[in-house]
Amino acid sequence: MTDTAVIAAGPLWVGTSWKMNKCLDEARSYARALADYVGQTGPSGVQPFIIPSFTALAATRAELGADSPVLLGAQNAHWEDEGAWTGEVSVAQVKDAGAQLVEIGHSERREHFGETVDTTRLKVAAVLAHGLVPLLCIGESAEVKRGGGSSRFILEQASGAIDGLTADELARVLIAYEPIWAIGESGRAATVEELREPFADLGREYGGHIRGLLYGGSVNLDNAEDLLGIDHVTGLFIGRAAWQLPGYLRLLEMAAAHPKAAG
Ligand code: PGA
Repeated sequence: MTDTAVIAAGPLWVGTSWKMNKCLDEARSYARALADYVGQTGPSGVQPFIIPSFTALAATRAELGADSPVLLGAQNAHWEDEGAWTGEVSVAQVKDAGAQLVEIGHSERREHFGETVDTTRLKVAAVLAHGLVPLLCIGESAEVKRGGGSSRFILEQASGAIDGLTADELARVLIAYEPIWAIGESGRAATVEELREPFADLGREYGGHIRGLLYGGSVNLDNAEDLLGIDHVTGLFIGRAAWQLPGYLRLLEMAAAHPKAAG
């Protein structure tokens, strides 16, 4: 699939995974205050989403309400609906708890929990089969980047997970490019210049075919506007800078004011 169409016009996706943070009280108060802030319609031109731990999914859904403009996501899900998979949680179960979106293949899961291209493919298919939105995370290590293999690496991660989907299925997929070297406390923020090429490659491959192409990794209030300005970027996937609600709200406001939010 190669054409030069840009990603289809739509809202800017701006969301956060809380990773392994927040017990119920904290999750509820964040969700309650976020629901108050977004009201019935949410920020114009922006699609907010939050991704709590499994344990907080149902409580977060209850605070957001059934028809919230904020999408609720899970950080992972197994591809089978049920069975002898101790410690795992299925797509059917996260859907039952109120999730509409499932994050798949975050680099922390690939590094520490044996996530592979094959398992990401199974999970994308399961998420689509249940009518949820897959948020596929891809990204290369510092070592791969040093060796000049970034583009090839991320295109292989993406194609391994989503090639073979129908056009309708593909049109429901979100991809977040999150270079490992830019994520978390030990990461360093990527410059706009070094992100142009990977996004040009991803845009060339998937532009016009997927639902959104997000950037993640040390996103903060200082760099968010510039990151959204990169060609083909249609959203931000945020960790630390959005774990406290005021930070997330400011990022939503900044995105709503961005020229691309009009799309
Ligand atoms: P960070 O996390 O914004 O804290 O770097 C990003 C991510 O892991 O998605």
